[in-house]
Amino acid sequence: MTASPTSPAVAGSLSVAGSFSVAGSFPLAGSFPLAGSRATVPPTATASAWWRDAVVYQVYIRSFVDANGDGIGDLAGIITGLDHLEALGVDAIWLTPCYPSPQLDHGYDVADYFAVDPVYGDLATFDRLVAEARRRSIRVLMDVVPNHCSSEHAWFRAALDAAPGSPERARFYFRDGRGRLGELPPNNWRSVFGGSTWTRVTEADGSPGQWYLHTFSPWQPDFDWSCPDVVAMFRSMLTFWFDRGVEGFRADAVAVVGKAPELPDAPPVPEGTAENDAWAHNPYTVFWPTAHDHWRDWRRLIDDYEAANPGREIVTVSEAYTPDRPDLLLRFVNPEQFHQSFCFDLMLAPWRVDTLRATIEPVEATLSAAGAPLTWTMNNHDTQRAVTRYGRSDAAELSSWTKNNLVYTGTPVDLALGTVRARAAIALVAALPGSLYLFQGEELGLPEVLDLPLGARQDPIFFRTDGREPGRDGCRVPLPWSADPTTSYGFSPATSPATSTATSTATSTATSPATVSPWMPQPGGWGNYSVEQQHDAPESMLALYRSVLSARRACLDPDAGLEWPTSTHPDVLMFHRGDVTVVVNVGADEVMIADVCASAPRLASSRLLLSSSAGHDDPTRLPGNTCCWFASS
Ligand code: NOJ
Ligand code: CA
Repeated sequence: MTASPTSPAVAGSLSVAGSFSVAGSFPLAGSFPLAGSRATVPPTATASAWWRDAVVYQVYIRSFVDANGDGIGDLAGIITGLDHLEALGVDAIWLTPCYPSPQLDHGYDVADYFAVDPVYGDLATFDRLVAEARRRSIRVLMDVVPNHCSSEHAWFRAALDAAPGSPERARFYFRDGRGRLGELPPNNWRSVFGGSTWTRVTEADGSPGQWYLHTFSPWQPDFDWSCPDVVAMFRSMLTFWFDRGVEGFRADAVAVVGKAPELPDAPPVPEGTAENDAWAHNPYTVFWPTAHDHWRDWRRLIDDYEAANPGREIVTVSEAYTPDRPDLLLRFVNPEQFHQSFCFDLMLAPWRVDTLRATIEPVEATLSAAGAPLTWTMNNHDTQRAVTRYGRSDAAELSSWTKNNLVYTGTPVDLALGTVRARAAIALVAALPGSLYLFQGEELGLPEVLDLPLGARQDPIFFRTDGREPGRDGCRVPLPWSADPTTSYGFSPATSPATSTATSTATSTATSPATVSPWMPQPGGWGNYSVEQQHDAPESMLALYRSVLSARRACLDPDAGLEWPTSTHPDVLMFHRGDVTVVVNVGADEVMIADVCASAPRLASSRLLLSSSAGHDDPTRLPGNTCCWFASS
């Protein structure tokens, strides 16, 4: 039986049947106590936990380093990149999904939660990565995708083969269609990636059949978390990876896990809502409350795991976009659910004093008052890169603030301007209390690649919106490690796939034979951004990231909160964090520090700790689009 949309061809064969390789204990059916009594384990001592102020680096595996020369990044490649990450000063890496997958949403369509996709390596290489990272005091986090799996997952294949009403279908949302012949989708819900959330299947007898629900693409069927099998499978999965030394998970799309049982029609969206925004107005799935029972269960499992394994300190971070609603974050980040939850508002704010402050201050105030840790980020694999966002001609206008990271304006980009602003932005965000998540390549100042050939695009958003939305491929272009174009700028080794070994290094400079093309084309000149080119350049973005992360560790008191002296200049954002005063000039013109001292007298006698502007060391002046840290003692 098949789902009606034809799945794009999947290279190679994907073995998913019977793929749960959990040693012994995986319960295929049956329930476990969700609301049972809490284990007699005290919650993690979060005040001192390593992750509270950690810097976590997101590795988008297929674009980090390709060790075996097939043009796709892999786990062995990550090992070769660890020295770079150690020198950068990160505490942990978060790996985007490396599970077996048809890669129709680059791993966010998981076919087996208990294995590694052969394209990326195997479990032995995974274990080696964890050990090599640990040797450098870098912890490894993974990505857990609870809302949906791949349409190639053994459970979904079994559901397609089974009859309506069967236990196999109960793990997903299969429903009869509306209309006389069931030819209409069961409700009006819109998918995040465009189009309906429903796809019709063909039943065993060849007749048009039921429909299944997918919040994202048709290749990502949603799990029904009211089915005990689903709950049990994820419990096993978490433990399986903890046992391999994984120190935590980023939890994907948690805001849409759980649905109103009757799946009623969503109310009409407000007039003028963008196509890609409609799903966010569906109250019958977005922030539907039942999922929280499961996050509580995960936390109990983790607390118990830590108690049984002294020395382990696990972290979970949830992905829930909550524009302008820091109070909603508290539904996810609390001692009974996730340890962290991304604060995305700052990433989506225009470059102006009022909006920057209006995003930082309430988030900090709300979460700190509740004793919840802050978790900042300025880039990820779903969002246009900061250098490009801040270089847009409307980057300082409220109109550019869609609050939706999947919807971009198409205004002209000034990369030089975007780069100085992105430099200031990292100095600003690194000074905030809490932890900081970086996305690979931001430390190199990579821009979004906006002119990818149409034929190269792979993001389902691009296809599901008939090209109206460009999608996210432009921030996922393989990293440049060297200036050598014959090795895809050091992304792949300088050997053909046939002769390559898993131990090839990212920065190999041998020149022949030419490497296979990377899975996503790199633009000309990409090597100018490479690690090799920036390594010893004191004014490079890489040098700035290293010094910002080291100053953050050396100069900021992790327990110090924010104080906001009234800024006396319309272009200047200013806050104190303990003994450090952070001053950001978002305007183009230089500002004299003496002109902003009225409300922050301590600045007059402070030492300049760092400046985001290359070559700037004059403590009396604040160049345009610059962030400086001053120390008062
Ligand atoms: C959020 C992930 O970050 C994104 O890349 C993915 O496409 C969706 N969730 C669906 O899993
Ligand atoms: Ca590879």
